[in-house]
Amino acid sequence: MTMTKFASALAVCTALLTSAVAFAQDKLPNVTILATGGTIAGTGATSTTTIGYTAAKVGVERLIEAVPELKKVANVKGEQVFQIASENMTNDHWLKLAKRVNELLAQSDVDGIVITHGTDTIEETAYFLNLTVKSAKPVVIVGAMRPSTAISADGPVNLYNAVTLAGSKDAVGKGVLVSLNDQINAGRDVTKTNTSTADTFRTPELGFLGYMQDNKAHFYRQVIRKHTAETEFDVSKLDSLPQVDIVYGYANNNRVALDAFVKAGAKGIIHAGVGDGSLSNAMKPGLVEARKAGVLIVRSSRVGNGIVARNGEANDDELDFVVSDTLNAQKARILLMLALTKTTDSKAIQKLFYTY
Ligand code: DGL
Repeated sequence: MTMTKFASALAVCTALLTSAVAFAQDKLPNVTILATGGTIAGTGATSTTTIGYTAAKVGVERLIEAVPELKKVANVKGEQVFQIASENMTNDHWLKLAKRVNELLAQSDVDGIVITHGTDTIEETAYFLNLTVKSAKPVVIVGAMRPSTAISADGPVNLYNAVTLAGSKDAVGKGVLVSLNDQINAGRDVTKTNTSTADTFRTPELGFLGYMQDNKAHFYRQVIRKHTAETEFDVSKLDSLPQVDIVYGYANNNRVALDAFVKAGAKGIIHAGVGDGSLSNAMKPGLVEARKAGVLIVRSSRVGNGIVARNGEANDDELDFVVSDTLNAQKARILLMLALTKTTDSKAIQKLFYTY
């Protein structure tokens, strides 16, 4: 074969290969990774450092480079929205993140979003976005329990699964999802159940939505409460959220913290009561006075599972209190903050707690 013929054959092969790759990439979903910090971006002094490391050090491009397999499952782009340990998450961070998620999901060339996040407040960000994302496209929040420098770091495989899930048509319309450790949880119900183990994220009584296995999402449950595309909450024009604080119930408690929150201007109080949201004789008068002063009061429970029954441990009709249904205190706080951007009517707010 002459050099000319060889060169032209090579050119044809190259062109065919290029178009085959382009065709294959066209078939892959477009997933944007929004990085916010946390352990998944953390570094430790040694490969065996799994506590006492520094979170929020590694940038989004390095997180993507560390998992070249991502290219097989999606066309991935990365953005560093902020870089924090998630115990420092604020309402401002949430508003910025929700607005960016909604901007991206409104684009036809974005099929899904992954958010890398510290695990300490993943459950709160997940519920906030479950109530404020205006799209049915998948939004998957992922973190890690071991820093990127540790032996068997869980971040890379969690990120790979999260991108696979965010690009999956089966994840459309499922609400905001939290996926670590090959498991899929719903944003409304997921909670962190262990301070340090890789299987920490669970939905204790209502269960996982499904699993990640063999590069695919396997769903077994649907969420029936309203979320994402059906939400009535709109943060697009909000620059702040009403102040809502949490007071904790325990034996021999008092109203000092409650009174301080009200004095500082809290618009709502979540009471994380013992048992079925019970109110102690020391705390109840403070809650009644706060309600009379116009502060919205929600009876939640420190227990973490089960329904807080209306008019059970307190006469909510008479006291004009709201109950949190099955939402734990930190999630009830998020729904009350958003509810207060729309209404201060306690009956309307109670309806929202039975809807979302
Ligand atoms: N500082 C914690 C956070 O950013 C580390 C926990 C983690 O991300 O796993 O939430």
